[in-house]
Amino acid sequence: MPAIAIIGAQWGDEGKGKATDLLGSSVDYVVKFNGGNNAGHTVVVGDQKYALHLLPSGILTPGCTPVIGNGVVVDLDVLFEEIDGLEARGVDTSALVVSASAHVIADYNRQVDKVTERFLGSRKIGTTGRGIGPTYADKMNRIGIRVQDLFDEKILRQKVEGALELKSQVLTKIYNRRAPEADEIVEQLVRHADRLRPMVADTGLLLNQALDRGQVVLLEAGQATLLDVDHGTYPFVTSSSATAGGACTGSGIPPMRLDQVIGIVKAYTTRVGEGPFPTELFDDSGEHLRKVGAEFGTTTGRPRRCGWYDAVIARYAARVNGVTDFVLTKLDVLTGLEQVPVCVAYDVNGARHDEMPVNQTDFHHAVPIYEYLPGWWEDISHCRTFADLPQNAQDYVRAVEGMSGARISAVGVGPDRDATVVVHPLI
Ligand code: GDP
Ligand code: IMO
Ligand code: MG
Repeated sequence: MPAIAIIGAQWGDEGKGKATDLLGSSVDYVVKFNGGNNAGHTVVVGDQKYALHLLPSGILTPGCTPVIGNGVVVDLDVLFEEIDGLEARGVDTSALVVSASAHVIADYNRQVDKVTERFLGSRKIGTTGRGIGPTYADKMNRIGIRVQDLFDEKILRQKVEGALELKSQVLTKIYNRRAPEADEIVEQLVRHADRLRPMVADTGLLLNQALDRGQVVLLEAGQATLLDVDHGTYPFVTSSSATAGGACTGSGIPPMRLDQVIGIVKAYTTRVGEGPFPTELFDDSGEHLRKVGAEFGTTTGRPRRCGWYDAVIARYAARVNGVTDFVLTKLDVLTGLEQVPVCVAYDVNGARHDEMPVNQTDFHHAVPIYEYLPGWWEDISHCRTFADLPQNAQDYVRAVEGMSGARISAVGVGPDRDATVVVHPLI
């Protein structure tokens, strides 16, 4: 049986949480494989709304085992806050499994994240300030702290002291901040050890054994293709691998076992934080999308920058991830427009680009070339089959599909789990 990846095709917040939740009842494991509590996935089930940051969206499906994979960076305070919050609402979180090799976010990582952004000034990335980048930097620098380190206090202390050797110099001498003592950090981390211990496992082994048994594993990305550290709009990216390749390294599932990649793509585009965004709207249309689409960050509450659908980006995401199916979300938000613009290519200094320009400066200068598709006025939130959609909405979906490099297998028409038009069954 297959491993399936769900990835974001734009700059995040495409509706990955809803899609993962929708498939939850058909899968045995849902694995978060990258990022940390920079993510914000909103899932609406009936009259209940859940905002998940660190936990995989599969946590809401009884019988599905949620897994935090080795590629994730874990803020332990947030982990237990989120668990307690869900338990208080009657969600059983007892099946959660956490990789022994996942890295943990130490307080100094949050400190460095915030202070670096402040020092960058106008060149800032607009991070979520959760310590994500500095924790991945520690991982790559081989001075990171892993979940398994919490269970040997002597080793943990050595590692924290090692990490602080350089970091306290940087914090005090460059940023003029107080550096934490190793004892403080060890105490902050170790107080979670007893509660964490029963959840910890070799998740790579567990997941491969599940696949051997014929069970279905769904790998849920945080962030998205254009925020991927390799394939995104660097340096305005997050610090992890949010694409399908990252699903393998971040979970321990080999590439050949992955046989479906579901790309989640919004019927328009949004971005939070800094960085280039060719179809961004600065007029009333942008405000309209933000208002109707409720485009405010789940994690930071920041207003999301809004723009029209960008087929160049969708094609790029299809290529980088090997997307087999797209889920086109939030089509309902486009209802009531006379015409719906879709970016089909870019004009860069007079030259037409049908593919993402490789050069950062070119992408910054990309001007969208639009095609204008006829809009629709009918409320589509109750549509459940493709034929239920008004003709112009069907034509929009088909046109976007033709430009985007993979078939559209489902269309979102509202935030609720059921508000989905399934064109081709996803699993
Ligand atoms: P994620 O980070 O990719 O999981 O996406 P977010 O949860 O941050 O943002 C997507 C938002 O859109 C959430 O508030 C969802 O409840 C909502 N949503 C998802 N799909 C649809 C849809 O098809 N229509 C509408 N109107 N809202 C949707
Ligand atoms: P989900 O999973 C949208 C953005 C931040 C910032 C950049 C780097 O909900 O789609 P970081 O704190 O990761 O170092 O910030 O990445 N960013 C997201 N934008 N959705 C997300 O997650 C994001 N996670 C990070 O706004 O621009
Ligand atoms: Mg989000």
